[in-house]
Amino acid sequence: MVQLVPSILSADFARLAEEVAAAERGGGTVIHVDIMDGHFVPNITIGPPVVASLRKATKLPLDCHLMIENPDEFIPAFAEAGANWVSVHYEACRHLHRSLELIASHGMEPAVVLNPATRVNLIRDILPMVHHVLIMSVNPGFGGQTFIEFSLDKIRTLAEIREELGLAFKIEVDGGVAHDTVARVVQAGADLLVAGNAVFGAGDAERDARALLNAARQAAGEVGRKRAPGRHQKRDAGAARPAGAAAKRVR
Ligand code: DX5
Ligand code: ZN
Repeated sequence: MVQLVPSILSADFARLAEEVAAAERGGGTVIHVDIMDGHFVPNITIGPPVVASLRKATKLPLDCHLMIENPDEFIPAFAEAGANWVSVHYEACRHLHRSLELIASHGMEPAVVLNPATRVNLIRDILPMVHHVLIMSVNPGFGGQTFIEFSLDKIRTLAEIREELGLAFKIEVDGGVAHDTVARVVQAGADLLVAGNAVFGAGDAERDARALLNAARQAAGEVGRKRAPGRHQKRDAGAARPAGAAAKRVR
């Protein structure tokens, strides 16, 4: 089932606990935390102390996206702060296998992130180690950027590789996920939808999270029918109809 992962990068940092609570009421089930160091990306955000504060403010899993050089140096501090999922960039890790093992050894779920220009085939061999792969659909560093269209092909390719290898990792997509892109992102095969500006940008995180998740679920229903044509008709001819009708309404 598709999950909404609100990114606090676009939230009001002075009201972080309230913003997170609103996004959760709207259907967010994981909180995405963008860690930037001003070196790997041209922006600076937050570190372990804010993760520790967030840990006290929500029970939802904290998905820490490390956009930093030398991530291995900071992995123990994020574990200590209460991070649940930690993703490191393929482009920032000299020894990616070691970094993923380090994350797992601290009891967290390891994940790898690919920049838009990095091909998915490069990570084939380490896919059995990861909880999820994060496909960046913008260049990392800022919220509110335009979705890069060829990311859809990368999501599809990764979904095919997952099928071919018989693995169960999740596919997460981050950057420009909003009302105009979410259906295509879901239909391409994404399971975890990171959204910053589309959830927090207009100041009503509960309403906007709910609307985005509803659009994603409608699209996920379409994926189900396309992938398994006729499957529902045989067992329960009526089951497919309401989903179809609902999907039409949102177009
Ligand atoms: C960008 C961050 C994203 C960011 C996405 O480098 O990794 O998580 O919050 O923002 P939107 O959803 O606004 O594109
Ligand atoms: Zn992110």
